[in-house]
Amino acid sequence: MASPVLGLVGCAAGGVEQILPRLVEPMIERGWQVAVTLTPTAATWLDATGDIEKIEQVTGLPVRSKPRLPGEESPHPKIDCYAVVPATSNTVGKLALGLADNQALTQVCEAIGLGSVPIVVFPRINAAHARQPSWGGHIAALTRVGVRLVMGDDVWPLHEPRSVPGKELPWAAIIDAIVSAVQRP
Ligand SMILES: Cc1cc2nc3c(=O)[nH]c(=O)nc-3n(C[C@H](O)[C@H](O)[C@H](O)COP(=O)(O)O)c2cc1C
Repeated sequence: MASPVLGLVGCAAGGVEQILPRLVEPMIERGWQVAVTLTPTAATWLDATGDIEKIEQVTGLPVRSKPRLPGEESPHPKIDCYAVVPATSNTVGKLALGLADNQALTQVCEAIGLGSVPIVVFPRINAAHARQPSWGGHIAALTRVGVRLVMGDDVWPLHEPRSVPGKELPWAAIIDAIVSAVQRP
């Protein structure tokens, strides 16, 4: 059977600098192909550290952050599961509202509309983001359409901004959510 393809979308949040060793490589070891797309800000961060090149070497696919030209083919294969990890409060809000103003959002907004590709989202947020008055509505809207949210006190307790620097993302829970999303669509 062909390898399942993970469409990994990384946003400009803490932990994005660890996606290669903590998510891309473990998924490849599990037999997946991984196609990475970054938000424009995340792309500037990982470009500055040289990580985009490293991810491309490991995945064998270009890291996308810009839309293709109208006459170009997509450089990524067909996606079996999307994972937005880490997801910023900004990108979660735009996804819930259907705002597709960059390549990363374009892909996931379309997948939400199609309804046939599972989508896992890990909101890498703090307590202040969650107090923003629209936050609860965004989470409810995404849950209603079947987006699998990795969140809650057991996986990501909310702390005040900058109170827990270097907090490790719940990689094992994220990987479990991706694997089970494909096993039980
Ligand atoms: C060093 C740094 C760390 C950040 N960490 C987070 C974070 O963990 N979660 C979050 O929602 N926003 C975080 N932000 C803010 C986002 O980067 C900002 O809202 C940005 O516009 C998000 O763009 P994107 O959603 O297109 O990636 C951080 C910003 C900086 C400069």
